[in-house]
Amino acid sequence: SLTAEADAFVPDMERRNLMNLILVSSAGATIAGLGGPFVAFFYPPSAGGGGGGVSAKDALGNDVTKTGWLASHPPGDHSLTQGLKGDATYLIVKEDKSIENYGLNAVCTHLGCVVPWVASANKFMCPCHGSQYDSTGKVVRGPAPLSLALAHVAVSDSDVITYTPWTETDFRTDLKPWWI
Ligand code: FES
Repeated sequence: SLTAEADAFVPDMERRNLMNLILVSSAGATIAGLGGPFVAFFYPPSAGGGGGGVSAKDALGNDVTKTGWLASHPPGDHSLTQGLKGDATYLIVKEDKSIENYGLNAVCTHLGCVVPWVASANKFMCPCHGSQYDSTGKVVRGPAPLSLALAHVAVSDSDVITYTPWTETDFRTDLKPWWI
């Protein structure tokens, strides 16, 4: 492994710096890999979300409407929106062209990288340390200890997609939500 190699040739005094560099590099690659518009989701985090619902926002900060989203996102699509507490949240388009009634918080439950959706694998695959989640966000490979957090998705009378906190049993694990 990388760590073993580092142990073999890096003096103790420098090991910490090397590991820091590796960590920073992988985090940087992750952010770069997401591309420009996604970065806008996180700087700055939006206000709102405390307790109640929020409208989903697109990369430009506009409210996401059901009609608009379905016009530009095909069945099977998993794309990021800004959700509760400003967290990047996947909005999912089902095969019947409706919007899934739950959204998935994109923050990896290991150390917090944003987890990309990999359509070819039908999974979310974290580039930071290899954790994997199935299409419902259930963790299927560590080191992540927990599944991706859920949020309820609803459509308002004015066609806007809204997220509200998911406080009920996690349907993927039959456990109480860990994120409450
Ligand atoms: Fe995702 Fe470590 S942050 S696997």
